[in-house]
Amino acid sequence: MIRKTRIVTGVIAAIALRIIVPLSAAAQVNKSMVRMGSSDVQSFDKEWLFMRYGLQPDGSRVEEPKDLESITYSDANWQRLDLPHDWAITGPFRIDLAGETGKLPWKGIGWYRKHFVVPSEDAGKKIFIDFDGAMANAEIWLNGKYVGTWPYGYSSFRMDLSPFVLIGKENVIAVKLNTEKWDSRWYPGAGIYRHTWLVKTDPVHVAHWGTTITTPEVTDHSAIVKVKVKVDNQQNNTVKADVQTVIYEFAENKTLGSKVAALKPLSITLEAGASAELEAQVNLNNPKRWDLEKPNLYVAQTIISVNGKLTDTYSTSFGVRTIQFTARDGFLLNGKRVQIQGTCNHHDLGALGAAINTSALRRQLVILKNMGCNSLRTSHNPPAPELLELADEMGFLVWDEAFDCWKRGKKKNDYNKLFDQWHEKDLNALVQRDRNHPSVFIWSIGNEVMDQRDVALTKHLVDIVHREDPTRPVSNGYNDPDGGRESGAVVALDIMGVNYFFNQQPKWDADLRYAKKPTIGSETSSCVSSRGEYFFGKEYKNWQITSYDSAKPGWGCSPDEQFRTNAKYPHLLGEYVWTGFDYLGEPTPYGSDETNLLNFRNDPSKKEELKKKLEEMQKSNPPSRSSYFGIVDLAGFPKDRYYLYQSHWRPDYPMAHILPHWNWNERIDSITPVHVYTSGDEAELFLNGKSLGRKSKKENQDFRLVWNDVKYNPGELKVVTYKNGKKWATDVVKTTGEPAKLALSSNRKQIANDGQDLAFITLQVQDKNGLTVPRTQPEIHFEIEGPGEIVGTDNGDATSFESFQSPNKHAFNGMALVIVKAKPGLKGNIVVKASSNNLTSSRANVVVQ
Ligand code: GAL
Repeated sequence: MIRKTRIVTGVIAAIALRIIVPLSAAAQVNKSMVRMGSSDVQSFDKEWLFMRYGLQPDGSRVEEPKDLESITYSDANWQRLDLPHDWAITGPFRIDLAGETGKLPWKGIGWYRKHFVVPSEDAGKKIFIDFDGAMANAEIWLNGKYVGTWPYGYSSFRMDLSPFVLIGKENVIAVKLNTEKWDSRWYPGAGIYRHTWLVKTDPVHVAHWGTTITTPEVTDHSAIVKVKVKVDNQQNNTVKADVQTVIYEFAENKTLGSKVAALKPLSITLEAGASAELEAQVNLNNPKRWDLEKPNLYVAQTIISVNGKLTDTYSTSFGVRTIQFTARDGFLLNGKRVQIQGTCNHHDLGALGAAINTSALRRQLVILKNMGCNSLRTSHNPPAPELLELADEMGFLVWDEAFDCWKRGKKKNDYNKLFDQWHEKDLNALVQRDRNHPSVFIWSIGNEVMDQRDVALTKHLVDIVHREDPTRPVSNGYNDPDGGRESGAVVALDIMGVNYFFNQQPKWDADLRYAKKPTIGSETSSCVSSRGEYFFGKEYKNWQITSYDSAKPGWGCSPDEQFRTNAKYPHLLGEYVWTGFDYLGEPTPYGSDETNLLNFRNDPSKKEELKKKLEEMQKSNPPSRSSYFGIVDLAGFPKDRYYLYQSHWRPDYPMAHILPHWNWNERIDSITPVHVYTSGDEAELFLNGKSLGRKSKKENQDFRLVWNDVKYNPGELKVVTYKNGKKWATDVVKTTGEPAKLALSSNRKQIANDGQDLAFITLQVQDKNGLTVPRTQPEIHFEIEGPGEIVGTDNGDATSFESFQSPNKHAFNGMALVIVKAKPGLKGNIVVKASSNNLTSSRANVVVQ
């Protein structure tokens, strides 16, 4: 049965009304605030059944039997699991699979089924299932009846189960995903890899993503908070709905804080099947701003009642902040200039694959924040909702991106196949879902799309986004910025996004069409390196890349070079480095990824050169399965570059960092360059107490200090740095002894037993004095005791084919990682033990609460 909906658009005038539901009663409805939106929302992640068909991990095929969606299908032998689930991360890695998608067997057909009872008291309610993301080509059935489809694996979507629900009985939902019909330039993951939610509402309720909160006027003393609410009447008779929104502070533990304002109550008469939007506003006194240091949040709680009966309580978190984008003075947050110090990141979480985990994501963001990163680009697709929740809470600005391609694809079966039918639905889903997050400050309609010169198409997509959110600018990441500006497509954008190519910036700054267009480095640098690897006189060896932070593909540049460009064009809004973290897939320069050639569409000579290299590469069949672009490696261990960005992005944080390590037995008396990254402006280097000279940085020219003539001798390398003539920070690197022991340290002392919370435990191979030994790769065995389990291991080596789930892992340059989770519901002490031949073992404790 298809529900007929009459959409009454336009703003309904505010009508004062008595308020029928006591506010205190309503506020109690959603105490834990696990999820914004309707109050009756339950996690739907537990106890799914899974079976894989089509392509199997070993490359063989298993054809799908018939009737997998039927209520009576016998699924007793299916794998039991909880979501989020990425069916491909268990591998195995296969040398014959493409490096660009991680050499993992992610192509296949996955079926999920779940049996659940809808109790009789839910009779008459609307029952929805919300998917935060399912990779890919999702088709959904309930009790054998087809409910709907959503092909784009990164979009969040809702399915209305109500027409097919069996009340008071067992129901069976079946979900088919098909990644054989999806192509990607990176590892996309496979499966229901984000959370699912069961939402129950009265038929008169706030529509899905039905609130829009804006703050059109903000001063230090007051802010106008405008709340637009879309109400659905999904029952068979006309109703008069009373609607009121009350604003609370958002307290730390995701609960409602003090009540700070109440909007005027409104009412609306809605015919059967109709929807309408209501709008009201209120003055918030002395608003606490959302900014990067203190990201204060509020919650708007909207209450709907019909004839005095509460029918919905809907929560929306938001923040009060102003954003301004200028062509001359950069980006202003709350009136103050903020230089964008951003990183691009793909969605995978390393050893955990694409399966979203808030704890893992939070760890990544903490690492980025400590580096001085203040903005995230969700390259090149809609992120998990948790990324935006964390960005709101931790104080990051987000460049929220929709697509990697439009009508013309980069791969055979990428979004080009979906564009015509789905682009508007996917854009709506992104903007409607994310438009109340204060962290989101720029929408991006694309990345290096093949049709980036298309004026009409660009305008069409910008118009859709503006229709859904007129308060934020729209951008697009260009790898052909000159072509885009020449064609006029960029005229339609609010902000020009330049990937890598800034050479013609002065010309465009002078062009009247673009003189007022704010411009940002939507993608920069693409420097590549392997943690702890240093080569002399070359950059590449054994499928690894030197960590002197100089190597880059033909279109890229070193971090320092980009800093110089930024200094030359101070009016640019800032940059997004490719990338914050290493990610699965795209192991440039050891990839056979032809899509990299797209960067050379304007320079055929370079393209030819790269094509030849690529052919060579394809013949040698590299084992690389993850990227080298990250400032931080796949295991979450900072590479040297981390400190280069920190030195520049946190100028007031006293720090110094020396590279390389100082274990070069075979290089006695050989020239071994030493580089120092510091937020100071001068430094003196000492080898075994003897000064190797004092060097200083030229402003906006030098971003590292380099001693190119150091002759290696074992011992101690020490740097003392200065700022404005005063001692600032020091760093010491020592030649270590032989590996003697293992040392474990956990990022968390306590974790929750909710089946999600994680502790990331770092292993270091140390000498007898506790110094981490570089250039050592012993095999480590991890064990766990107590109420926990090992959910992943990694070492940051882009060429490792060891399973991410194996308790055995070789250290890579003296380090490895083990990720543990508490067994749901249990309490006590987890003890993780690491052992290895001839090395003293180590233990780490994590308390489960
Ligand atoms: C860019 C592209 C990214 C990534 C990067 C590698 O051109 O937008 O997705 O491929 O190159 O340098």
